[in-house]
Amino acid sequence: MDAGSSRVPIIRPMTGKDLQRIMEIDTRVLGQSRPEYWELKLELTGRKSPAASLVAELEGKVVGFIIGDASGWEYAVPRNIGWIDAIGVDPDYQRKGIAKMLLTEMVDNLKKLGVTRVYTFVNWRDWSLLRFFDGMGFRRGDMMNLELKV
Ligand SMILES: CC(C)(COP(=O)(O)OP(=O)(O)OC[C@H]1O[C@@H](n2cnc3c(N)ncnc32)[C@H](O)[C@@H]1OP(=O)(O)O)[C@@H](O)C(=O)NCCC(=O)NCCS
Repeated sequence: MDAGSSRVPIIRPMTGKDLQRIMEIDTRVLGQSRPEYWELKLELTGRKSPAASLVAELEGKVVGFIIGDASGWEYAVPRNIGWIDAIGVDPDYQRKGIAKMLLTEMVDNLKKLGVTRVYTFVNWRDWSLLRFFDGMGFRRGDMMNLELKV
């Protein structure tokens, strides 16, 4: 993207006013809506560092989001661990480097909080997300995903 053009997204902290657009984007990328999830998520997000939840805004419109966290001792992992919980870019604005900008800013923010390693969970059939994280340098880690069907 041309840095001189107005079509360069601004990356800024998420606020409660972004909820509606984030839910719209999430519904478009997932094909289903989950309003209760997002209301709870944004309430929890409001209690965290503003550095850990970001949106990309292009010409006044939110076109992408990322939610991360720096771990306390959740799951008995040390404080230098960060998480990417959720990421989404409006399909009309994909493949323009927006998710890359969001992730780069998030990783910079997490590093400032002392994070030295970042984890995320991806469904192994979600090729576009896997390709994105692979392209960003993520590799299979040492944590194992265990599942019990009940
Ligand atoms: C994955 C996703 C975040 C990528 O967003 P994006 O803004 O299009 O990504 P970028 O343009 O920053 O892509 C950066 C690089 O990642 C890779 N990449 C991104 N999307 C890809 C795709 N669909 N297929 C293959 N590679 C892909 C490419 O290497 C790309 O670089 P390039 O365009 O120069 O080749 C977006 O497709 C998305 O929102 N998917 C749905 C995610 C989801 O299900 N979220 C639910 C809540 S967690």
